[in-house]
Amino acid sequence: MGSKSRSRSTSLLPLLCIVVALVVSVSLVQAEDDYKFYTWTVTYGILSPLGTPQQVILINGQFPGPRLDLVTNNNVILNLVNKLDEPFLLTWNGIKQRKNSWQDGVLGTNCPIPPNSNYTYKFQTKDQIGTYTYFPSTKMHKAAGGFGGLNVYRRSVIPIPYPNPDGDFTLLIGDWYKTSHKVLSQSLDSGKSIGFPDGLLINGQVRSTFTGDQGKTYMFRISNVGLSTSINFRIQGHMLKLVEVEGSHTLQNVYDSLDVHVGQSVSVLVTLNQPPKDYYIVASTRFTQTVLSTISVLHYTNSHSSASGPLPPPPANDYDLSMKQARTYRWNLTANAARPNPQGSFHYGMITPNRLIKLANSAPLINGKLRYAVNSVSYVNPDTPLKLADYFNIPGIIDNSIQITPSNAPAHIATSVLRTSLHDFIEVVFQNNEKTMQSWHLDGYDFWVVGYGFGQWTDASKSTYNLVDALTRHTAQVYPNSWTSILVSLDNQGMWNLRSAIWERQYLGQQLYLRVWNAQRTAANEYDIPSNALLCGKALGHHA
Ligand SMILES: *[C@@H]1O[C@H](CO)[C@@H](O)[C@H](O)[C@H]1NC(C)=O
Ligand SMILES: *[C@@H]1O[C@H](CO)[C@@H](O)[C@H](O)[C@H]1NC(C)=O
Repeated sequence: MGSKSRSRSTSLLPLLCIVVALVVSVSLVQAEDDYKFYTWTVTYGILSPLGTPQQVILINGQFPGPRLDLVTNNNVILNLVNKLDEPFLLTWNGIKQRKNSWQDGVLGTNCPIPPNSNYTYKFQTKDQIGTYTYFPSTKMHKAAGGFGGLNVYRRSVIPIPYPNPDGDFTLLIGDWYKTSHKVLSQSLDSGKSIGFPDGLLINGQVRSTFTGDQGKTYMFRISNVGLSTSINFRIQGHMLKLVEVEGSHTLQNVYDSLDVHVGQSVSVLVTLNQPPKDYYIVASTRFTQTVLSTISVLHYTNSHSSASGPLPPPPANDYDLSMKQARTYRWNLTANAARPNPQGSFHYGMITPNRLIKLANSAPLINGKLRYAVNSVSYVNPDTPLKLADYFNIPGIIDNSIQITPSNAPAHIATSVLRTSLHDFIEVVFQNNEKTMQSWHLDGYDFWVVGYGFGQWTDASKSTYNLVDALTRHTAQVYPNSWTSILVSLDNQGMWNLRSAIWERQYLGQQLYLRVWNAQRTAANEYDIPSNALLCGKALGHHA
């Protein structure tokens, strides 16, 4: 008996080694340029995030949706099954979709997935690292959920410019409305604002607990997934060390609170260096007459007392203070991002932009209804995605009438596309002559935010630009009666949405598309249409 089992275990040993070797090699491959497969089913559910039951959007039964934890250069194959009663799309906020605007998941590039149907997204997190999100781009679905965290971790061979944190928390913070997404849509369709939100949620809840060990350092990945309001984030008794903003590694400044505007993400390190107890984590709306707050808890594992004492106070309600903070978000020039070369090796400040585009937002009445506009054009989605109209040469969809400087012309409705050339290096000035905060997002890119200022932008404003260590990001805020200036290197061919991240505004027309183009149709410039592309509108009957 004994000898038999001995001989069995010796004969098993080589096999075991092979199995171990296989497991090791498989997990190594998985960490790098591997394929990651997902099937996500979108349904309605009933939850009570603010205490009263309401219809929400679930992904695989979850609210918020499942977190996507990816590694630089992963290939994602994600089959999205729509079980809602309305067409649906997800967009991957900050994923650059290199040469691949086919996968961007907005109505200018993709036909929406009809009810009881599916679409398989195929994209790569090419040369990206950092904290991102995904969310529905259709209708007001984002108001019901369907959003989630999307974290891209480093490849094992690429260092990060800070010690590996002892843990990692993803915080999706956003304002929330008790009104259903359909009623919000109806309100907007009839020309009425959705108004002020009812509350603020962290990860779909009014109160969450984040647990860590005393003496250890944790990463908090904070994204504003709300519809309307900027937020301020702070932790009682603890400092926030900023390390990453939308894919840029920053100078590691320390803050007692941070402003995060709609659609933006930041990553901070927090060291649990206080006496063992629990501490308040507070997020509150910023620059609003009524202030909404949500209070969560940082729990030390060796704590025996609950959080107490005064809540960490919000910063003064002062735009200047916030603008000054924004100017301190800077690139660490010697640090690398997703690739091994230092960020500072790209001398963006030495390049003269070959085009200046000045975009002014406004809130006109058109046919007696509230709309929002960019340079007097209020965008409407076409039935045929712009990308497909371009590909199949379908006339009458794309409207090129938008001007590159603001005018006083009465606003009109059109499907605006601004034509640019591949490898243009452009400057975009966002001029906000309204009294409200703005947040502008560009798909397909990150861009250098070189300047913020009050009043009207003029040529003289250029003298205030940071042309040395401004960071790149995908979403930039513009303060009331102010301007923000960005530089963009148009190295990614495609049809790219430039939109207000404030959802009512993009819904009612504050958006347009940048067509980044080169006459040569080559795979080196842009991937071909995916074979599973959904077709709709005038593209029906064509072949992908
Ligand atoms: C829908 O899902 C099936 C597998 O369930 C897949 O074969 C098909 O390609 C998907 N459709 C699209 C348009 O991606
Ligand atoms: C910049 O990054 C380097 C790593 O390349 C790091 O050692 C240094 O501390 C960082 N500097 C600041 C000010 O964050």
